[in-house]
Amino acid sequence: MIEDKERWNIRHVEKPMPHYVAPILEKYTELANVGMALDVACGIGRNTHYLADLGFIVDAIDLSDYALGQIREDKKIIKHEVDLDFYDLQKQKYDLVININYLNRRLLSQIPDALNKDGVVIFETFIVAHDKPEKGSMNPDYLLEPNELIKAFEGFNIIYYEEKDVINLRGEEARLASLVARK
Ligand SMILES: C[S@@+](CC[C@H](N)C(=O)[O-])C[C@H]1O[C@@H](n2cnc3c(N)ncnc32)[C@H](O)[C@@H]1O
Repeated sequence: MIEDKERWNIRHVEKPMPHYVAPILEKYTELANVGMALDVACGIGRNTHYLADLGFIVDAIDLSDYALGQIREDKKIIKHEVDLDFYDLQKQKYDLVININYLNRRLLSQIPDALNKDGVVIFETFIVAHDKPEKGSMNPDYLLEPNELIKAFEGFNIIYYEEKDVINLRGEEARLASLVARK
């Protein structure tokens, strides 16, 4: 939706995401065959740039034209200005799918089919902390339930899964789920 795009454009200017690569990628990207990668809701491309530097061809998808404009022009990076609420993933296209700090359940359900055989998914985002409901300001629609992520990749070889308390970028207590799995 156009309002979402404008809201995110403003948010990217007023509350910029960090430029450092998500630490989970530094640890686990080497498990994937270097080939075609998808960065779901890539933002300003901190993780897209990392994957392209490693040799991946990256589909970098986001609805914010401002954020996509921060991503360098590079023949290994294909930028898609797309609203993921209305976008379907191509089947068996990717050797690696990363989804960091974003949740779209409709899209989550398409990731298993979007991966090639032996493809790797690295997924990390916030979950509901049922024992601390007063904490955090995030909309529950954008929060995973405990164990939801591991169930979404049933049948995959789960290489790493953790739910842990962290401090989010707003300085609030939050809980994070991290998953690395191979198809
Ligand atoms: C918290 S940021 C995370 C960005 C990136 N994954 C990272 O870790 O740096 C969430 C991103 O989701 C994008 N986004 C939000 N709703 C979206 C939608 N419906 N379709 C596509 N992108 C969306 C925003 O523009 C923003 O870049």
